[in-house]
Amino acid sequence: MTIIAAIDPESIINAAGILKEGRLVALPTETVYGLGADATNATAVAAIYTAKGRPSFNPLIAHVSDLSQATKEAYFSEIALKLAEKFWPGPLTIVAPVSSKCSVCDLARAGLDSVALRIPADLTAQKLISTLGRPIAAPSANRSGHISSVTAAHVGSDLFGKVDLILDGGPTKFGLESTIVSFCQPEPILLRAGMVTRETIESFLNQRIKSAADYKIIAPGMTASHYAPLATLRLNALDITEDEAAIDFGGQLIQFQKHSLWMRDLSPTQNLTEAAANLFTYLREADRSGTKKIAIAPIPTFGLGEAIQDRLIRASASK
Ligand code: TXA
Ligand code: MG
Repeated sequence: MTIIAAIDPESIINAAGILKEGRLVALPTETVYGLGADATNATAVAAIYTAKGRPSFNPLIAHVSDLSQATKEAYFSEIALKLAEKFWPGPLTIVAPVSSKCSVCDLARAGLDSVALRIPADLTAQKLISTLGRPIAAPSANRSGHISSVTAAHVGSDLFGKVDLILDGGPTKFGLESTIVSFCQPEPILLRAGMVTRETIESFLNQRIKSAADYKIIAPGMTASHYAPLATLRLNALDITEDEAAIDFGGQLIQFQKHSLWMRDLSPTQNLTEAAANLFTYLREADRSGTKKIAIAPIPTFGLGEAIQDRLIRASASK
């Protein structure tokens, strides 16, 4: 059931309660509507990908309510801070290396060591984030492949039945997504053109900004927008060799557990939402176990399984 609610103090408290329970709320921002989940809850974030029907796990923007929350999540260079102070709250997203206190879950970051942060200017969005007291992960509130939603009715037509609550804040002010600038390299990189123009940023910083396209240095986990495990992955494994760690799904490899160096099951009950929520954390843990090879059990190719497979295929191809 999807409820569309007008904005008032009660609907915002209700929305925060829904998010706290790990469910989804579509919220207005000044750019486009976002499909929000508690960014610290991987199972809730997995539900975003299910609702959008996204065949892959793109990293999401974590929306925060103030600068102190932002600087708790990530390391801001001097220049990143300067940009944040100038354009926040507003349609600018800053990608920065995660801090040791980062609360945004691995799945929302697609396993990356960086996090995309934005303080929206929309007051409803701000109140919802501060009431929740946690960052809200929110991609644009549309079905995968459709255009972004700029009214609650658009959200409803794409996501009715897939989101618990739509906060109707009327048409969004800008109707175009935020500008994304990354500070994970020595110099800032424009990852996505958006509401704040390149010219505005360049003249404010008094320097030229590179685009992702003309930035040729590919350091794994830096410009590449995907986490690549250090170990080699063997997909659709039906057994485990002695030199392999293993990531199972639904107990398919359990009989080999005694041979394996390290083993986890993405979801013993074959629940794909649970599997998605665990994916990046387990890949990292497997890496940390020191193994050079990871055997991965077959994952179903329907529903969220498609996105999990997509991610694993990219990770195995990056070797
Ligand atoms: O205006 C907006 O930005 C809207 C509202 C809801 O805030 N959100 C939005 O989200 O457009 P989405 O998911 O449609 O686009 C987010 C973009 C993706 O292209 C993703 O690849 C990029 O942000 N992104 C997120 N985290 C990143 C990271 N750590 N490194 C590089 N790119 C990242
Ligand atoms: Mg989008």
